[in-house]
Amino acid sequence: MRPKKITIVHDMELDEHKREMLDAVEVVLKRRFEVERIPFDETFFQRMKSAEFVFNLSTAGGRDSRQLHVPAVLDLMGVPYTASSALAHALCIDKSVTKIVLQHSGIPTPRFSVVKPGDRLENMDFDTDYPAIVKPVREGSAQGLWKDSVVNNVEELKRAVKRIHDNFHEPALVEEFVDGRECTVGLIGNGEDLEVLPILEIDFSHLPEGVERFYSYRVKNEIDHYLRFHCPTELDPKLERRIHQGCKAAFKVMGLRDYARMDVRIRDGEYYILEINSLPLLVPVYSDITKMAEAAGYGYEGLIMKILEASFERYGF
Ligand SMILES: Nc1ncnc2c1ncn2[C@@H]1O[C@H](COP(=O)(O)OP(=O)(O)OP(=O)(O)O)[C@@H](O)[C@H]1O
Ligand SMILES: [Mg+2]
Repeated sequence: MRPKKITIVHDMELDEHKREMLDAVEVVLKRRFEVERIPFDETFFQRMKSAEFVFNLSTAGGRDSRQLHVPAVLDLMGVPYTASSALAHALCIDKSVTKIVLQHSGIPTPRFSVVKPGDRLENMDFDTDYPAIVKPVREGSAQGLWKDSVVNNVEELKRAVKRIHDNFHEPALVEEFVDGRECTVGLIGNGEDLEVLPILEIDFSHLPEGVERFYSYRVKNEIDHYLRFHCPTELDPKLERRIHQGCKAAFKVMGLRDYARMDVRIRDGEYYILEINSLPLLVPVYSDITKMAEAAGYGYEGLIMKILEASFERYGF
């Protein structure tokens, strides 16, 4: 039986984008269901007792365990919900774990090593080519990415690693810097019906002279008006097919459900998955996956309904 009521679960603290996303998802769902909104707070267990089905938009909660609480609690209570389980979110939150799984599955990802706080940097043998990029292993939204996160020698590398340890108190990921085009790949569905949305390219070429050509914090948040987005972007058809296959394989091996977004860089005809967002934001117009859904002709409403339908199907509704 299809649920009649949908409970949208969201973060307690909402910035402008999250508020906009919440309102927009509610508008779409209200056309077809009774809808309630519930923040993830201390009353959550109690209030979930009467929930029939959850549309999960909660991406916060704790540092290491963000995104895990809502799915974990809902599984415990037997309430069905959209998107991935706590386990899949956990695998994706730690970029080094994601990369180990990708490597193991033969899916291209840049070479890397991990430096934990407390590791002795002086004697460390960094088996890396330059340029390399140094980033926190489990942040998001370009946190911990500065212009000089891209390093060209071992001294710069050590400085960048120390800065990650000092600022985030978590391991630093040292990765081969893939100097090439940057794309992001959205997926919706499950199993045989898993669909790759039109690929979106982020074009950094209009940034002012001297500005780093990657998503540093300032490029993403302060000077993003210089960016151009191409969706669908033009790719060599063979490469595009391989990206489709690789991203679908990654979706399956990570145990993802309903939707996700993967950041990819392309160099010399090969693609590399940088990281996987297991609960990407669904902000109208602004979010990458929303742009992809527009390009696919689904529009925002189509995107939300496809996610919901994928989830219903998984539960046999
Ligand atoms: N190995 C790499 N080679 C080239 N560029 C990279 C590499 N790793 C990261 N970048 C650049 O840094 C950006 C941010 O990295 P990443 O996607 O890993 O972090 P994030 O903060 O989790 O991202 P998001 O904002 O999508 O949550 C990428 O979009 C890309 O521009
Ligand atoms: Mg990213």
